[in-house]
Amino acid sequence: MEKKSVRRNAPGPRGDLLIGSFRELQRQGQVPFYLNNWRKYGDIVRFQVGPIIAHIIAQPDHVQYVMEGNPSNYGRGLGYAKTRSLLGDGVLTSDGEVWRRERELMEPLFTREAVAMFEEEIVDTTKAMVARWDEVTARGETIDLDAELRRLSIQVMGRTMLGTEPGQAGVGEALAQAYDKTSEFISRRLTSVVDVPLWLPTAFNRRFTQTMRKLDRLIYQLIRERRSGKQQTTDLLSRLTAARVDATGERLSDKQIRDEIITVLFAGHETAAELLTWTWYELAQHHEIEAKLRDELTRVIGANAPSAHDLANLTLTNCIIQETLRLYPSVWTFPRQAIRADEIGGYHIPAGSMILISPFLTHRHASFWENPETFDPDRFTPERSASRTSYAYLPFGGGARVCLGRHLVMFEAGLVLATVAPRYHLHLLANQRIEPVARITLRPSVPVLMGIERWH
Ligand code: HEM
Repeated sequence: MEKKSVRRNAPGPRGDLLIGSFRELQRQGQVPFYLNNWRKYGDIVRFQVGPIIAHIIAQPDHVQYVMEGNPSNYGRGLGYAKTRSLLGDGVLTSDGEVWRRERELMEPLFTREAVAMFEEEIVDTTKAMVARWDEVTARGETIDLDAELRRLSIQVMGRTMLGTEPGQAGVGEALAQAYDKTSEFISRRLTSVVDVPLWLPTAFNRRFTQTMRKLDRLIYQLIRERRSGKQQTTDLLSRLTAARVDATGERLSDKQIRDEIITVLFAGHETAAELLTWTWYELAQHHEIEAKLRDELTRVIGANAPSAHDLANLTLTNCIIQETLRLYPSVWTFPRQAIRADEIGGYHIPAGSMILISPFLTHRHASFWENPETFDPDRFTPERSASRTSYAYLPFGGGARVCLGRHLVMFEAGLVLATVAPRYHLHLLANQRIEPVARITLRPSVPVLMGIERWH
């Protein structure tokens, strides 16, 4: 049915004449800017940054409408275009028929059953971290938790997606370094009004290009090795090098494989690490929940290493991870761009304007969550989850473009937590004030320095 045309704009900050709210965004920081304007103006906030009109939306119905009700009108658009200089045309950034083929190709490796094959790689890599922590404890030192977990996550990615061997630490380190540098570039691009073109020889552009070249050399070398070898493994790299494009039966080009690999590393590395960092940040402040978690782990897995099978019986472990994703959704906001003019919640959405969906806001919506700021894993018991409004909880997005790696990351987080929590108590060093800040993912504002003690 044709919608009647609504000309009423959503309320929001007026901003400066030419740059709109750019200065306010920079001054407040993105997360406070979203929160403050949401509290002031309500569930749809319209603002402008330079020539771009954007709407922050927080109401589950409106989010559902964009993601499932009228998805063909809301493409990846400008927000994702800014990441193409790094990611190319992988499954995260592409649209339409190209996206459909890519998703079909990747999906089989990321089902719940398929990710269970990575049990050994994840547990082994975590045990290596634990062995290092044993030495740290013996020396009475502290750890930078976020840095530790980012290192763990890139190594897990290397082993599960690229099939690197445990001894090939160099690949993981090189990937981590390249990731840090390139993500800084993307982060800057996402928050700028005007993009400095990549061909301009600024110091920053040069650094980015050099890092990209290094990262590409590494990935292309892995592709060549895999193409020439007999090794048949279950990782993503094997799947992509063996894949044939349906209609023509041709193999994927090296560039196509490179784009998918970088996409998965980019989408999956920091997101997983931040989820675990925030989990321990909360556990360090809720000793009663930590004690119940240890009870559950002792009861279900005892002194053994956790397995894929155990995870199904770790109800509280799973609830803790879900509650962490509610308060700290690693992907705290993601964009769409309206192709044609539309109406959301009675407000006019001009063609070409941006829609900023924010799990961070929706997960704090008092109409859908009781005491939204309180960390309470029991919200995610099956009984309480059953009555939840659709799209009130969307850490992994939804609809056809729901996160490809959601089963992998839930599996990884469960195994890591179940390996580490029975062994260590982590406590925050005094006087640390830590806020979530928006980079590409939701990161802690300062290094999360933790003291660690062995339970036994
Ligand atoms: C806590 C961890 C993670 C969170 C919170 C998260 C969140 C999200 C969200 C919200 C989206 C939807 C974006 C949109 O619709 O615009 C998404 C998409 C995606 N995620 Fe994740 N993600 C996580 C981990 C991962 C991991 C581990 C991988 C890969 C191994 C991954 C790969 C992807 C890909 C490829 C897409 C694009 C899917 C498509 O458009 O078809 N993510 N993720």
